[in-house]
Amino acid sequence: MASTKTSPLSFPLLLTLTILFLQPLVSSIIIEEATVQDLQLAFKNKSLTSKQLVEYYRDNIFIQSPLLKAVIVVNPDAMLQADAADKERDALAPGHSLGGLHGIPVLLKDNIATKDKMNTTAGSLALIRSIVPRDAGVVSKLRQAGAIILGKASMTEWANFRDFDHMPSGWCARTGQGKNPYNTKGDTCGSSSGSAISASANLAAVTLGTETDGSILCPSSNLAVVGFKPTVGLTSRAGVIPITPRQDSVGPICRTVADAVYVLDAIAGQDSNDDATIEASKYIPSGGYKQFLKINGLKGKRLGLLKDVFFNFGDEPDLAQAFDRHFSTLRQKGAVLVEDLDASKFLEAYNGIQEYEILATTAEFKLAINSYLEKLEASSVRSLKDLIEFNNKNSKLEKIEEYGQQRFLEAEATNGINNKEKEAIQELAKRSRDGLEKLMTDNKLDALLAPFDSAAFILATGQFPGVIVPAGYDKEGLPFGLCFGGLKGSEPTLIEIAYGFEQATKIRRPPSFSRSSY
Ligand SMILES: *[C@@H]1O[C@H](CO)[C@@H](O)[C@H](O)[C@H]1NC(C)=O
Ligand SMILES: *[C@@H]1O[C@H](CO)[C@@H](O)[C@H](O)[C@H]1NC(C)=O
Repeated sequence: MASTKTSPLSFPLLLTLTILFLQPLVSSIIIEEATVQDLQLAFKNKSLTSKQLVEYYRDNIFIQSPLLKAVIVVNPDAMLQADAADKERDALAPGHSLGGLHGIPVLLKDNIATKDKMNTTAGSLALIRSIVPRDAGVVSKLRQAGAIILGKASMTEWANFRDFDHMPSGWCARTGQGKNPYNTKGDTCGSSSGSAISASANLAAVTLGTETDGSILCPSSNLAVVGFKPTVGLTSRAGVIPITPRQDSVGPICRTVADAVYVLDAIAGQDSNDDATIEASKYIPSGGYKQFLKINGLKGKRLGLLKDVFFNFGDEPDLAQAFDRHFSTLRQKGAVLVEDLDASKFLEAYNGIQEYEILATTAEFKLAINSYLEKLEASSVRSLKDLIEFNNKNSKLEKIEEYGQQRFLEAEATNGINNKEKEAIQELAKRSRDGLEKLMTDNKLDALLAPFDSAAFILATGQFPGVIVPAGYDKEGLPFGLCFGGLKGSEPTLIEIAYGFEQATKIRRPPSFSRSSY
């Protein structure tokens, strides 16, 4: 044989067989699709260790990475952390308890800083070897909760703020194009693409994503996972490569609502490095969020249904039927679907809002990214100007000609928050008051219903929370979700509703493209 190259299938096959042979004790059935609670029970009854769990995910990532490109790097210290967690669990004195995510491997979007052996780069080559001053606030909280930092997930580079007209979802220079395991020709959406792919394809127990406008909700919809975008400030953004502190939020992307809530409990709360968390901590209920995982959570909930605005599917009767079935289920479970709403007033409030959002965000990005880069302990890029230059110098690797950096250039041309930007920011707040806030309070709504990420801009510009739950699959096998949005601090209610809907429908199934398909 002239070529030593193996065929694309034989290598993973061999690897899978090897792994199955080497790990006869760890039944992948226990782990695949297991919830945090399942895993914790298995730890407790000693049928599983954190080390075995990390091995399983590490191998799964290794097998699937060449195709899915969902993970940039596995933490070289993950196994050490798992070993420490196992020892801690074994040595636990009676009457003592472990953190809420003890021994659970968590994958982080690559814009969330870790002060360890991994790079934090937002998917870009420009930040390789930059040194962050400390763990991101949410990472400190994860460590406090006993979680294992499994690695960094790929993402749409710079959270899709390099060029949103030309940049494909799920692409970053560090990994290339992320793929949707339900249909590799299908869109992953972004920008938390790698986190959502990884949750979907069982490459991690749970993951974190970030959202400025749709970046948790949209990929979660496309990948049949639960995405939770908290009220802005409920979770710390310190140490997260920013777009704008006015809208950025960090939240869980997981296979179930309960898992997302376990993660939210671990990461929500005050952080002295993010002032917004001080104010938003008033929303956190004593006793945390798990208490709202109620099987009858839909009972009596008033859900706003603007059918013509959000659920008008025209030439896709399958989608209309799927959502109609969900509306029946919601009613059966005791929810009240409120359809008698003033759609024109609502729409009027959001007329032209995107222009204000872009105007404000573009100027805010320059300030926020410059401040992030300045605070790095070491970095070859120190400003947005440097980033633009880096991209020009590395235009082949960063695909600048194809995917552009128009948003960077426009941001660089701004000069702080001046009258125009101030007006835009005020306009966004006013639109949110006249729009979702008025609709919800006038009609005593508990949540607004929307398919996919179609209401993401409303939640984003209002700093409101939203949660998306798997709701079906289209003709091409691509998943779609149903989103529940609410006003600031309405997480408890959203959890009751989302959990009630999930338990009544249980639509998520893992992609057939998985370890077992090799
Ligand atoms: C331990 O817990 C796991 C997860 O709940 C379960 O699947 C398994 O059957 C349990 N094993 C024993 C020996 O109880
Ligand atoms: C970052 O990436 C570089 C190049 O791949 C590697 O040498 C380094 O160990 C990584 N970690 C840190 C913290 O720089």
